[in-house]
Amino acid sequence: MKLLVLNGPNLNMLGIREPDIYGKETYPQLVKLVEDTCAELGVEVEVYQSNHEGDLVDKIQAAYGAKDAIVINPAAYTHTSVAILDALKAVALPAVEVHLSDVKSRDDFRQVSYVRLACEKTIMGLGFQGYVEAIRYLADKYQK
Ligand code: DQA
Repeated sequence: MKLLVLNGPNLNMLGIREPDIYGKETYPQLVKLVEDTCAELGVEVEVYQSNHEGDLVDKIQAAYGAKDAIVINPAAYTHTSVAILDALKAVALPAVEVHLSDVKSRDDFRQVSYVRLACEKTIMGLGFQGYVEAIRYLADKYQK
């Protein structure tokens, strides 16, 4: 299985950024965990992070015909981006939404997720482990 793991704005600042909410581990540590998890499961993975909405849209479009599934933490774009929602719908790949924090117990403006409308599952509040769960879920369901 070929998997795309997409991370949105400010996730490159993990370890520095609000550690009480997002933890002290860094973005490179997250990438390593994702790569190690995929290697164990025999999943081929590409991990990509961008602070720019259009870059994330481009990456989702490029997954069409090239990837089998997507794990996405759209970060702040979760709550604003119809463009990312539409891109996920356009490629129609199985997708899982991940959030490090428990967004449902946070600000009102974080209660809306556009992206969720194109995802078959949402995992939140588990920190880095949420990515592991998302990868395992997709591998169990779609790995041939
Ligand atoms: C986040 C939650 C979002 O509300 C926030 O804007 C982020 C990170 C999370 O992983 O918990 O940047 O997606």
